[in-house]
Amino acid sequence: MDSQTTKMISNAYQALAHSYSPYSKFSVACCICTDKDNLYTGVNVENSSYGLAVCAETSAISAMVSAGEQRIKSMVVLAGTNSLCSPCGACRQRIYEFSTPDTLIHLCNKDSILRSLTINELLPLAFKFDFNS
Ligand code: THU
Repeated sequence: MDSQTTKMISNAYQALAHSYSPYSKFSVACCICTDKDNLYTGVNVENSSYGLAVCAETSAISAMVSAGEQRIKSMVVLAGTNSLCSPCGACRQRIYEFSTPDTLIHLCNKDSILRSLTINELLPLAFKFDFNS
């Protein structure tokens, strides 16, 4: 594992403590590394109106875009359970929006990568609308 991925796991693990998940009690954190090598973290944020929960991946993407960046080089996702947490369908489409075919999504525990996948493996035949044609 390279030092950048080690740092991303460490950042995500620290952020896990900030997950707001009193309803599911399932904390998730995500750390994005952009093409400019900047890191952005996010956690899941739940709501008493259950359907309004925001996933960790979506939080991290919002932080990245809010900071003026739009290209994900790699991403770490980890859950408080320490077992593999795979992004939900909605998050896969959001990750796709800001990914390239080389973007790697690392599903991790606090110590290591459990699986690494491309967005095409996570979301084959993704929906893409070309506004320019
Ligand atoms: N969750 C995430 O944050 N990311 C995932 O990849 C899967 C699920 C959150 C949503 C909800 O707050 C909790 O995990 C249980 O579904």
